[in-house]
Amino acid sequence: MSPTISTLSSTPLSKLSLLLLHLLPFSLLVSPSTSSFDSFIYVGCSQYKLSPGSPYETSVDSVLTSFVSSSASSSYNNFTVPGPTPSDTVYGLYQCGGDLAVADCSTCVSRAVSRVGTICAGSSGGTLQLEGCLVRYDNATFLGVQDKTVLLRRCGPLVGATNSDELTRGDAVLGYIGAGDGSYKPYRTGSSGSVRAVAQCVQDLGAGDCQDCLAEAIGRLKSDCGTAKWGDVYLAKCYVQYSDGDHTSSGHGAADEEVEKTVVILIGVIAGVAVVIIFLSLTATMCERARGK
Ligand SMILES: *[C@@H]1O[C@H](CO)[C@@H](O)[C@H](O)[C@H]1NC(C)=O
Ligand SMILES: *[C@@H]1O[C@H](CO)[C@@H](O)[C@H](O)[C@H]1NC(C)=O
Repeated sequence: MSPTISTLSSTPLSKLSLLLLHLLPFSLLVSPSTSSFDSFIYVGCSQYKLSPGSPYETSVDSVLTSFVSSSASSSYNNFTVPGPTPSDTVYGLYQCGGDLAVADCSTCVSRAVSRVGTICAGSSGGTLQLEGCLVRYDNATFLGVQDKTVLLRRCGPLVGATNSDELTRGDAVLGYIGAGDGSYKPYRTGSSGSVRAVAQCVQDLGAGDCQDCLAEAIGRLKSDCGTAKWGDVYLAKCYVQYSDGDHTSSGHGAADEEVEKTVVILIGVIAGVAVVIIFLSLTATMCERARGK
């Protein structure tokens, strides 16, 4: 099954409002935040529903609780909680961004856990990415498994043709963070002038898989966002963020007035389990605009 891709930029406004209406019950769960690390990026829940009161739910709670306690001392960890049958085993991991202070990692994971617990209640799996951290759990093991499925891709407004200098810098920075010297570097940053890029692998991947994942993400960023002023590509096991200028990760909407090309990707399959990824930042941006102007 291949992922279905729908491009919002080509969606008529009426359809867009309809889409936003659908997202409304979810967007209400996203509390306004001032700190950028807990900005919402995406969420997806497994299509498998649990029967209420199943022992699996207790195991999910236990995994989510473990995320929170472990994040007070570690930026990554994985957990496996066996259930009465193999299909009731819960696998989970969380990953904080390499630049996040321990206290922020802990706060980020706590918020991600409480959100995913609410949004994906009753599902056998959930994955939620905030700006600063990722939490994911499922009853199919995905730990240590490479997965380059595109979960989210968004591009800023295009840079004018006169800015070829910046484009060259952009290429250089992406080349730098994408370069592999064989050593294990799950978190990478690079900058040149006003251009900056950040890359992060989920640390269940080894050095080779991490490198492979980042190469794919960078390739996608170049091919899909081309000459955009900023762009993010989130694959299941790594992401790359790129920006030129004063754009910050928390200000995709605020700093850049026009989101030229925002893409919502409805995932076909993640590790054999279908999930739907909903991109809410756009909704947040629209609300901000409605409020601010
Ligand atoms: C996960 O749980 C769902 C719901 O109980 C079940 O249908 C599915 O087969 C399970 N997946 C695996 C890999 O065990
Ligand atoms: C999961 O965690 C265990 C213990 O913390 C560690 O030894 C193992 O390497 C981890 N596995 C992955 C895939 O990260």
